[in-house]
Amino acid sequence: MKEFVKLVIDGKELTLPVIEGSEGEKAIDIRSLRQETGYITFDPGFGNSGTCRSTITYMDGEKGILRYRGVPIEQLAEQSTFVETAFLLIAGHLPSREELTRTSVYLNDFSPLHENMKAFYQNYPPKAHPMGILSAMVNAMRSFYPELLDIEEDMNKTYLRLISKIRTMSAMAYRISLGEKVVYPRPDLCYCANFLNMMFDGVVVPYRIDDDMVRALNVFWILHADHEQNCSTTAVRVVGSGKVNIYSAISAGISALWGPLHGGANQAVVNMLEEIHKDGMTVKECISKAKDPNDPFRLYGFGHRVYKTHDPRAKIMKKMCDILLAKTKRKDPLLDIVQKLEETALNDSYFKEKNLYPNVDFYSGIVLRAMGIPTNMFTVMFAIGRLPGWIAQWKEDVADPEMRISRPRQVYTGNQLQEYIPVDDRG
Ligand code: SDX
Repeated sequence: MKEFVKLVIDGKELTLPVIEGSEGEKAIDIRSLRQETGYITFDPGFGNSGTCRSTITYMDGEKGILRYRGVPIEQLAEQSTFVETAFLLIAGHLPSREELTRTSVYLNDFSPLHENMKAFYQNYPPKAHPMGILSAMVNAMRSFYPELLDIEEDMNKTYLRLISKIRTMSAMAYRISLGEKVVYPRPDLCYCANFLNMMFDGVVVPYRIDDDMVRALNVFWILHADHEQNCSTTAVRVVGSGKVNIYSAISAGISALWGPLHGGANQAVVNMLEEIHKDGMTVKECISKAKDPNDPFRLYGFGHRVYKTHDPRAKIMKKMCDILLAKTKRKDPLLDIVQKLEETALNDSYFKEKNLYPNVDFYSGIVLRAMGIPTNMFTVMFAIGRLPGWIAQWKEDVADPEMRISRPRQVYTGNQLQEYIPVDDRG
């Protein structure tokens, strides 16, 4: 039975329909509000605004639930691979054996980069941040691969071409930043093993593919693959709503992810931990800085717009730290600090009252360090993982008959009418 709400504005009663999701979430459909009343809603940061209907990812922030196409993240992390999860997000169902094999063949076929793209890297400033390089390179794909752009039956190839090449581009950025020769993808290696090999082969000695590391990288990217309407996904949808090509929309998502409040938090967490480790700050000082309303410092890796309890991904990431550090027989001094920070914050009334818990970024840096990934590549690792989610969300947006070009309104608080004053009369 359709539900409605009533709104009384300036004595006039307005009936607005209620939309209900498959998990019982309810939304007031305000699409007729301005036309009927002249009023708009006001919601900076969209904390209370639904921008679309979506069938891709379900999150329950109060219960700490995360599911991709209905499948719980815990089961995917336990039993799936990143390529299979990418297929699930984009196609909407788990692949058959035949679909999985065909996907892997395409990912291998598409993994080399256009030789002329290497010139970009050579001419970038040597200390350029790899996220800036990645955003530019993905945008450049529009120019290098125009042929498979908007032809529907080839769009799956375009998606796989993006997923395959983002991995090669990222490893290439790292190798060139070291002045090391570029390692090309190997057809005999799976997606994650190929990435690790392209990153580390021959930097000192031939890279030995380690199954536990490959498994850990699959899980890391599964945990990052999608997260409904987060900042970078919203950027992809907003940019895509103007009907620009997919590469430019994804490039906008990479740029949005870079910020320390979003995907850049994983790098900010390790910078924060290293500051504490170098005695630049104690755990106690770090916590009080984070609580100080006059200090812009945040406890990076803590808090979330949706999760008001533990981020289910952080729990899995935390377990991975212990497994990988035991495996590599490494003692990461930052692990002791991050655990002390978590324990102190979780027992602090400020964090408890504001429902601030560790998010996906809190432990991910420790996991990446155990894999040998350098800090400035952390957010690139997040971007590679999130790409299937961005593609799935872009695909859903462009196909959604309800969607229009994104064009929010505003409440104007500037000058009222002012006559123009010629410069000589301005005093
Ligand atoms: C990701 O959206 C997603 O799904 C994102 C993501 C994904 O997978 O795509 O999950 C990935 O981006 C995770 C978040 C990574 N960012 C960080 O770890 C940066 C630190 N966290 C905060 O900046 C903050 O918690 C955000 C950005 C994550 C959420 O910001 P909100 O929802 O706008 O919350 P807010 O800033 O309004 O905070 C509410 C209150 C404020 O205090 P009051 O003004 O009410 O007094 O909580 C405080 C904030 O000051 N607060 C923090 C804090 N996070 C919130 N205080 C100290 N340290 C923090 N980390």
